[in-house]
Amino acid sequence: MDAAGILGTGTALPDRIVTNHDLEKMVETSDRWITERTGIKERRQAAPEETTSALSVKASRKALEMAGLTPQDLDLIICSTISPDMPLPSTASFIQCELGAPDCCAFDLAAACSGFLFGMTVAEQFIKTGKARHVLVIGAELLSRYVDYQDRATCVIFGDGVAAGVLGPVESPSGILASEMHTNGMFADHLFIPAGGTARPASCETVQARDHYIKMRGNELFKVAVRSLEEVSRRVMQQANVCADQLSLFIPHQANQRITDAVQQRLGLPPEKVYTNISRVGNTSSASIPICLDECVRSGRIKKGDLILLSAFGAGVTWGAVLMRW
Ligand code: UT7
Repeated sequence: MDAAGILGTGTALPDRIVTNHDLEKMVETSDRWITERTGIKERRQAAPEETTSALSVKASRKALEMAGLTPQDLDLIICSTISPDMPLPSTASFIQCELGAPDCCAFDLAAACSGFLFGMTVAEQFIKTGKARHVLVIGAELLSRYVDYQDRATCVIFGDGVAAGVLGPVESPSGILASEMHTNGMFADHLFIPAGGTARPASCETVQARDHYIKMRGNELFKVAVRSLEEVSRRVMQQANVCADQLSLFIPHQANQRITDAVQQRLGLPPEKVYTNISRVGNTSSASIPICLDECVRSGRIKKGDLILLSAFGAGVTWGAVLMRW
């Protein structure tokens, strides 16, 4: 049986750059605090007319082109997003229509920052069982629409961005070697949007209370993130009988540079084996890992045969890892 691997990647970032100095004019913060506490210098922000689906289509076209495939070759589209175009229908439906893949099933997946890895793992099952040959997995977030620009604890962190990967059968020894997905709803209140759903439908009161925006208990999340990322990374390496020394590259979710550094040290990896781009794009939730992947592939940082570890952690809380050979 063939393994499932990534055949092509693509990214679409909004043009507008929001620097730390821009944020200094909006909330009580400083370039120094943001740089030291998060590693972020700037992030992207979508223009009002840009949508999650429109950027997804751009990224998907690039991924399909790299894979040498057309939208008609797709059997399934999975769009990982917590910032959909609208609550109904799925953003994946808009993407499917705009891409021009009329016979292809498409749905959204909500696992926050872990969503791209959850999507890859779902895609892998379809490909390995022969139920699908080519699966488009997209990590798509316009979190600027859900960020409160009066809340300095969150508005400095999140950025907009989309990236896609086309998965399909690949020849051994390439492909996904091991993967894990986890959820612990005990920590659901650590990162959430209180209103706008069935629990608290939109009303004047919820809007006035600014409860349609992201609320985060960053400090508590930080500790859970470091612990979970280390554990799940070790588990997938163990499953595939691989040790950290053998890794060519580690791409963690870009949540905070200090989280990345802590996990890198705990895993005993040299810094040059860890990819980060958080200074340029901030935390783009489920788009963060595929944006990194695409940058690495296009710059030649990832080469055929490389052993790559991807690990993510996010709201839910959710966490997971994928170990793959390129
Ligand atoms: O994407 C996956 C899920 N997300 C995460 O995993 C996020 C994990 N958490 C983090 O990245 C960090 O916790 C943050 C960057 C969010 C915050 O950094 P921190 O070092 O944990 O700060 P803190 O929340 O403990 O706050 C320390 C101080 C507080 O002031 P006092 O109470 O000590 O006077 C905050 O009010 O820093 C203050 N603060 C700020 N000051 C300047 C919080 N945000 C800012 C800010 N600028 N933007």
